[in-house]
Order: sequence, then C-alpha cells, then structure tokens
Amino acid sequence: MTRRVIVAANWKMNGDSALVDSMISGLSDMESSNVEVIICPSFPYLSDLNQKIKAADLDNIIQVGSQTVSKFVGGAHTGEVSTTMLNDLSIKYVIVGHSERRSVYNETSEQVASKVHAVLDAGLNPILCIGETEAERADGKIESVLLSQIQPVIDEIGIERFSDVVISYEPVWAIGTGKAASSAMAQETHYFIRQLIAKQSKQVAANISLLYGGSVNAANCEELFAQPDIDGGLVGGASLQAEQFKIICSAA
Ligand code: G3H
Repeated sequence: MTRRVIVAANWKMNGDSALVDSMISGLSDMESSNVEVIICPSFPYLSDLNQKIKAADLDNIIQVGSQTVSKFVGGAHTGEVSTTMLNDLSIKYVIVGHSERRSVYNETSEQVASKVHAVLDAGLNPILCIGETEAERADGKIESVLLSQIQPVIDEIGIERFSDVVISYEPVWAIGTGKAASSAMAQETHYFIRQLIAKQSKQVAANISLLYGGSVNAANCEELFAQPDIDGGLVGGASLQAEQFKIICSAA
C-alpha cells in the first residue's frame, strides 16, 4: 500500500449513543480531503456509528474502526469479537496492540503479531501501536523496545505485507497526560522507525504510514503533522469533541 495521511479517533471506553449522535452532527460539515478519517468507538457502538455515518453521507470521508479484535475467527472465546464479525459490520480498521491492551491485559508482542495477521487475512486494515514507557526512555531503551514490538509482526506476516500495516507510535508517557512529545522528539523517533524498517525493505519503509499518538490536541497537531516522517495521528481524549477533532483532521 502507498503512504497515506490518516487521523484516527480512539474513543477508548468512553462515549455512548449520545456521543455517536453529537459526533455525527458535529462532523456533518466535514469535507472530503486527502486525509483518511477513522473513528474507533467501543464494540457496542460500531454498528450504530457506521450506519449513521452512511445515513449522513459521510461514508466517503469517515471510516469506522475497532479498538481491538480476537486472533481467532470464531468459536468458544467468550467475550471476544472476531474479524469475521467486524467484516459483517463493514468495519474497515482495527487498532492492535494499544499500550493499554499491552499493559492492562498483558498482550504480548507475539499475540499482537497474531492479531495483525488475522486482521490482514480478513482484508481489514491494522493500526499497530508501539511505544516506550518513561522508564524505558530514561534507560536509553527506546530503540530496543520499538524493535521488540515491530519485529514479531514482521516475522509473522513477512516484510512485503508489512506495508499494509499502519503504525502508530505512541510513547506511553504521553498518552492521556497532556504531555505530548515535542515535534522534534516525535520526528526523531518516527525517523528511527522508518530507518529500522528500511533495513529490511526500503520500499516498505517509504510506503508505510506512521502516525503519532499521545496527547495530540488542536493546539499541537499542526506542528506534529508538519514533520516529514509523521503521517497523521491517533487521537484519544481530543477526539471526543467534534470541534477539536475537526481541527486535528484539517491539520493533517
Ligand atoms: O489511542 C490514543 C492514544 O492512546 C492517545 O490518547 O490522545 O488521550 O493521549 P490521548
């Protein structure tokens, strides 16, 4: 796949039917652009959001994504949701390996790799989250941590297919803290990620989309998105307000 500009909203475990409605009405004047806009609500709201986006004629501008998925396609997996189910609901994107899934639900990089594989096999688009903690950054382990999160995915799916993966670099210390990485720091790490991939395929490195996530807001998005190796963002808190989210989308 070729390099794309993407802004994805991760509502996390926030929102309700009222947020779905207010977002549809708040985004109703959004115009088509080169930016792929994705909204990832919790599972119960996927279908409602998708249908309302279509009803509002916004489906050529906004896509719907899931926040996680099972690596299994079906069967006795209580509480899980499969790629088959997401396809059935016409969901196009899946966030995989968000740091909250890794730290709170103990998802390993190998499990994340299996999920990315399942997502691609189902014809869906994975958004793979990676990022270091504050302690890992302080210990100078950024590069080894990012490699340990990326390489199992490449080993699982092969480097050629890796260009179909969207990466979101999200330093854990910047998530939900209001302390976004500086644009220079984010660019430096995005550049490192692209070089790391280039060692295995220059073509994939040139084509892969690298998003930044972690306290992106209406005030800092323009500078972050202006960096040469940043292709958009994965936005948490600021995506819960339509006006702020629109500003972020238009800055990409
Ligand atoms: O998935 C989104 C990231 O965790 C960023 O969240 O924008 O609330 O810091 P945040």
